[in-house]
Amino acid sequence: MVVLGIETSCDETGVALYDTEKGLLAHALYSQVAMHADYGGVVPELASRDHVRRLLPLTRQILAQSGLALPDVDAVAYTEGPGLAGALLVGASAAHGLAYALEVPAIGVHHLEGHLLSPLLADPAPEFPFVALLVSGGHSQLMRVDRVGDYTLLGETLDDAAGEAFDKSAKLMGLGYPGGPEIARLAAAGTPGRYKLPRPMINSGDLNFSFSGLKTAVLTAVRGQTLDDAARADLSAEVQAAIVDVLVSKSIAALEQSDLTRLVVAGGVGANRLLRDTLTSRAARRGYSVYYPDLEFCTDNGAMIAFAGALRLDQGVAGNAKAEPLGFCVRPRWDLAELSPPVGGLSSAR
Ligand code: KG4
Ligand code: ZN
Repeated sequence: MVVLGIETSCDETGVALYDTEKGLLAHALYSQVAMHADYGGVVPELASRDHVRRLLPLTRQILAQSGLALPDVDAVAYTEGPGLAGALLVGASAAHGLAYALEVPAIGVHHLEGHLLSPLLADPAPEFPFVALLVSGGHSQLMRVDRVGDYTLLGETLDDAAGEAFDKSAKLMGLGYPGGPEIARLAAAGTPGRYKLPRPMINSGDLNFSFSGLKTAVLTAVRGQTLDDAARADLSAEVQAAIVDVLVSKSIAALEQSDLTRLVVAGGVGANRLLRDTLTSRAARRGYSVYYPDLEFCTDNGAMIAFAGALRLDQGVAGNAKAEPLGFCVRPRWDLAELSPPVGGLSSAR
């Protein structure tokens, strides 16, 4: 079965074709980063309008790349939430329109479930159960994943997300948006420790995070200062080290407390090289293994939505296009723990 995946929850238009037999056939992404850069963050209305412009041309592009035509599509999966309401509506309307015309199911996918399952697209893929560290611009969560749809929250951020901490610190330092890649780039030339930033809640004993204090500490460090290149690099290195220290320490604690041996890292911050290297070496010392999506599938993309949609379809989720062809909603706020396993369940993804 061929599933078309559509991701429009924020500032990236992502589409992909996933074949349940052959795997990922094609995917394409258009990033709006340059358009939002002047504003220092995503402007929701501009994001929605740009998704309208990009979505169908990108879909035609991946169909052509895979030598398929629309009638070859057996289901259309789209991000139903969480995300920006207007941006989500673009993907949801396109998906339902296509599904209605093709008389195939439309499957609403939870964006974070897409991220969470994206490491299963990689080779080797982790087996269930595992601990997932989900770190994006809007979320920082540790989850226990027993199978598709069976997610237990172990800990989460009490305020800012890890990606948000990167983005806000970068903004305070006068760097561009998104801040994570910028800080990571500058940090390569800097030394942590010249500036001293806190590692919030690292010894709290639970699996929750808090990153808003870090942002305040960065504000204190930069206030009244003119940062030269060396200072910016050193501060970037310290911001990155502080965030990575906390994420690594809590992830290892989550493995210990849940008695699991596999850790899966997903979401945009999972692209961070220092996080990957530190987690891999700390985990290996204790006999744990860590799994990551390919770098291109860490940040938002259509492949993870097509894949999550295919898994749910495979396991008996009928989709809602046939039952209610043009009635749909989006869920800008949607708790991952509300999801339930598909009927029939499953213990291995592929
Ligand atoms: O998952 P994602 O693409 O979108 C959301 O669903 O939020 O994550 C975006 C976040 C941004 O905060 C961005 O700064 C961060 O991921 N990010 C990084 C890196 N690449 C993206 N943070 C640290 N290091 C990176 N290399
Ligand atoms: Zn995301």
